Amino acid sequence: MKLKSILVALSAAACITSNAFAQAPIVIKFSHVVATDTPKGQAAERFKQLAEKATNGRVKVEVYPNSQLYKDKEELEALQLGAVQMLAPSLAKFGPLGVKEFEVFDLPYIFPTKTALYNVTEGPIGKGLLKKLEGKGITGLAYWDNGFKVMSANKPLKMPADFKGQKLRIQSSKVLDAQMRALGANPQVLAFSEVYQALQTGVVDGTENPPSNMYTQKMHEVQKHVTVSNHGYLGYAVIVNKKFWDGLPADVRGQLEGAMREATTYEKAIAQRDNDMALEAIKKAGKTQIYTLSAQETAEWRKVLLPVHKQMEDRIGKDLIGAINKESAK
Ligand code: LMR
Repeated sequence: MKLKSILVALSAAACITSNAFAQAPIVIKFSHVVATDTPKGQAAERFKQLAEKATNGRVKVEVYPNSQLYKDKEELEALQLGAVQMLAPSLAKFGPLGVKEFEVFDLPYIFPTKTALYNVTEGPIGKGLLKKLEGKGITGLAYWDNGFKVMSANKPLKMPADFKGQKLRIQSSKVLDAQMRALGANPQVLAFSEVYQALQTGVVDGTENPPSNMYTQKMHEVQKHVTVSNHGYLGYAVIVNKKFWDGLPADVRGQLEGAMREATTYEKAIAQRDNDMALEAIKKAGKTQIYTLSAQETAEWRKVLLPVHKQMEDRIGKDLIGAINKESAK
């Protein structure tokens, strides 16, 4: 009897030990600053599903939306420290990291269409820009889309003269600073998570963003006017901590790359639809006057804003701007 109970105890111990040593999942903390119900938020959730399935549970993705973990500037620092493993910051937010070239995406009217944009992000220019992140301990995996931006304020913004003296929130981009100053406005950099309150309290008078960001942050509730100007673009780079990424088992890295490709295809398929739906929802909410610029008015905006390209050549690189203009004209 004694031998039997010893054997039972030993096999139980062996079972616990083997469970304890069973591979703990590799955790990817994916932090971002927008609501889940946005193109980027939906794509982060989709990547989570795809990655956990593709790796058969060896990887667990924890998504932290809406600046829950970190807000704008903090998130890039957290990634470099390895406190989070994945982000998808706006392309307008890499300047402070020292990779100023990404601000080329902020140039007003640089992309005539989404196709022109994709020719850049999916081609050698886009790949070359992501490569520049490696020196900062970051690996760029993909570009995710959002959309062309509208302007909002508590007064109608139809002509450049209407911007005079308006305090407008921008992302941390020198190109966006130059853009707003070219319109006669006073730009103010604020973290995305602070924009609603700044609009509500009058710290700033207005801002710019694609409709999906405006609607999901309820900015339309504190902005009386929206101008559908499509004067600039907002998109993302999906990035990981390089040391973490290079340290993954090769098969797991390959499975994650496949999941990222699928999530990227999904994200680009929903971005425009989400923005169209958000603009409709803002209209339906009835608190905001929506005005779409005429061709004549757009021509006036372009006259004032296109000189920002030349003004920013030293910061971004004349050749890069030229290469994107050439690609966009195809
Ligand atoms: C903003 O700060 O306005 C945007 O970059 C937020 C986002 O991630 O879309």
